[in-house]
Amino acid sequence: MGYYERSLEKWEELKGREDFYLLAIESSCDETAVSVLKGREVKSSVISSQIEIHKRFGGVVPEIASRNHILAIDNLVGEALKEAGITEKEIEVVAVTYGAGLLGALLVGVAYAKALSYALDVPLMAIDHIKGHVFANFIEYPDMRFPFFCLLASGGHTELLEVNGYTDMKVVGATTDDAAGEAFDKVARVLGLPYPGGPQIEAHAKEGQNVIPMPRPFKGEKHFNFSYSGIKTAVINYVHNAESRGEAINTHDVACSFQEAATDMLVDNAVRAAREKGYKTIALAGGVGANTALREKLTRRAKKYGIDVYLPSKKLCTDNASMIGMAAYYAIKEGVKPADLDLDADPNL
Ligand code: KG4
Ligand code: ZN
Repeated sequence: MGYYERSLEKWEELKGREDFYLLAIESSCDETAVSVLKGREVKSSVISSQIEIHKRFGGVVPEIASRNHILAIDNLVGEALKEAGITEKEIEVVAVTYGAGLLGALLVGVAYAKALSYALDVPLMAIDHIKGHVFANFIEYPDMRFPFFCLLASGGHTELLEVNGYTDMKVVGATTDDAAGEAFDKVARVLGLPYPGGPQIEAHAKEGQNVIPMPRPFKGEKHFNFSYSGIKTAVINYVHNAESRGEAINTHDVACSFQEAATDMLVDNAVRAAREKGYKTIALAGGVGANTALREKLTRRAKKYGIDVYLPSKKLCTDNASMIGMAAYYAIKEGVKPADLDLDADPNL
């Protein structure tokens, strides 16, 4: 019997158990992250962020990200095991993000996970990064039940999802151009603020006022799609016009006005869609979910209509491996088969 046949047998057994140790790896962008779960319980979570390295270049440089994942990953696995108080021999399944993300960055995690699962002779679960973000909600809200409605806003995705399980998510609205996080990052760059832009915009917005008119794309439309390019262009034009007139701009006011428009669209669509589809809960997911203005606005607006909001803590909104582990747990329970050793990264998943 070869590796994959043994892996299938072990996976079949895991489906009926709650107490297995799972090691999860995430390396899709600029954070190398490893986590150990025992069933649905997170035992350890370690992250090595490359933000300081990429800051110099104003954004993530793919090749540099890959190299730093290679430097970090082995030590992180050791740390995650130590923090969880187990040895690698106790790991019964390995999970890894195989897409979407930067190809070279993903490949580091995928290659490491394949080697580790082969060496330990355990199943390997290939996990979709975006679904991982959704499952971050179960870490702090273990009593959450399907179906629920999810607003997912990250650097690469902006979607409204009806979530019935790992294998059953329906997109009811999505961005037609830039992702929300991408817009935060681009606007920050125009304002001369460092990478990553989201937290910078948030900090500057706190000192500013919402006084600069911004477009409200799709306002009054029946669909639930998003568009960020118009808002982003409005900021760019505003800044360039001020520059050409030799006028100073108030960065705080620009940040505040942009953030208001960007979060309004997220909250408007999410609450309108949840109401129309009959959901009583909205779960937040993705890096932009760390934005306090968004969290407060979503909570306030949803409450008005008797909708509960699940807000994962900020460190669970941004990239981490616990969410990949949690998604893998549900994937196993739903009968998603393990990957074989020919697993490849899929940057456009
Ligand atoms: O989910 P994530 O960590 O990685 C992706 O899968 O993309 O999201 C990263 C994105 C970046 O665009 C970053 O600027 C944004 O999330 N972000 C924020 C905040 N923190 C991170 N955006 C707005 N406000 C924040 N506090
Ligand atoms: Zn992410």
